[in-house]
Amino acid sequence: MPARTALVTGAGRGIGRAIAERLGDRGMTVAVHYASDDTAAKETVAAVVARGGRAFPVRAELGLPGDVDTLFAALTEGLREHTGDTGLDVLVNNAGIGCRGDVSQLTPEAFDRVIAVNVKAPVFIVQRALPLLRDGGRIVNVSSMATRVAHPEILGYAISKGALDMLAPNLARQLGPRGITVNTVSPGLIDTEFHGDRLRGRPEARAEAAAQPAVGRLGEPADVADVVAFLVSAEARWITGERLETSGGARL
Ligand SMILES: NC(=O)c1ccc[n+]([C@@H]2O[C@H](COP(=O)([O-])OP(=O)(O)OC[C@H]3O[C@@H](n4cnc5c(N)ncnc54)[C@H](OP(=O)(O)O)[C@@H]3O)[C@@H](O)[C@H]2O)c1
Repeated sequence: MPARTALVTGAGRGIGRAIAERLGDRGMTVAVHYASDDTAAKETVAAVVARGGRAFPVRAELGLPGDVDTLFAALTEGLREHTGDTGLDVLVNNAGIGCRGDVSQLTPEAFDRVIAVNVKAPVFIVQRALPLLRDGGRIVNVSSMATRVAHPEILGYAISKGALDMLAPNLARQLGPRGITVNTVSPGLIDTEFHGDRLRGRPEARAEAAAQPAVGRLGEPADVADVVAFLVSAEARWITGERLETSGGARL
């Protein structure tokens, strides 16, 4: 049986990097997708390799015309080079952007952008991945706790993740006969660059954020990555169409 392969979008840093590392640990050859930060993506690839895994970078900015074409041209080239064919076992739609503003502040341009990156791109990435995905494959979409708990100050973001949540049940139903499972992982607040300067170097904001989860600390990328690694494992074969929250029990 050939080594399993995985595409993790937005794996240059943050949650995506941690997922890439975990999947590399489990023997998969990992395509490390990112938008523009070549240095960060190289660091992810190096981190996977340093742990004994195999990985290669795939650059494609999502939300632009031709984005999915660019991604799959680089992905298939990398898979051929590293594995000898273009078979894919795991797709993790993790790349995503924020969109601050309540309904009075939201602009059509910002709304279009967050929908393009957080919803349209994953839908068409799945469409293009289907011919490559082997039977028994796995799809995981990284959504957000913001689809369960109201966050009016990030309305466009919450709507985009709400739409993304609809992928898992519908795709799970369609792809189940091939043994392909499709699930959603919904993080609470995780300490990454996603939050810009809102947490970094601000002890009071960090303490406030750390008080939200029932387990009493800030979430880390590994807290999400370990759950994704489980969902793509053989042990999770009977879980599909589900939304699994990884928030340490925030706002229960
Ligand atoms: N952090 C949280 O608290 C949190 C909570 C709930 C859900 N999430 C979700 O978790 C996912 C990962 O978040 P994170 O915190 O790890 O984010 P992050 O630290 O900001 O990293 C984002 C990654 O996605 C890539 N990316 C961003 N925009 C892109 C685009 N237009 N095209 C292609 N790649 C793009 C970035 O590439 P470059 O490095 O090249 O820019 C980077 O590798 C997102 O979907 C986010 O919505 C995060």
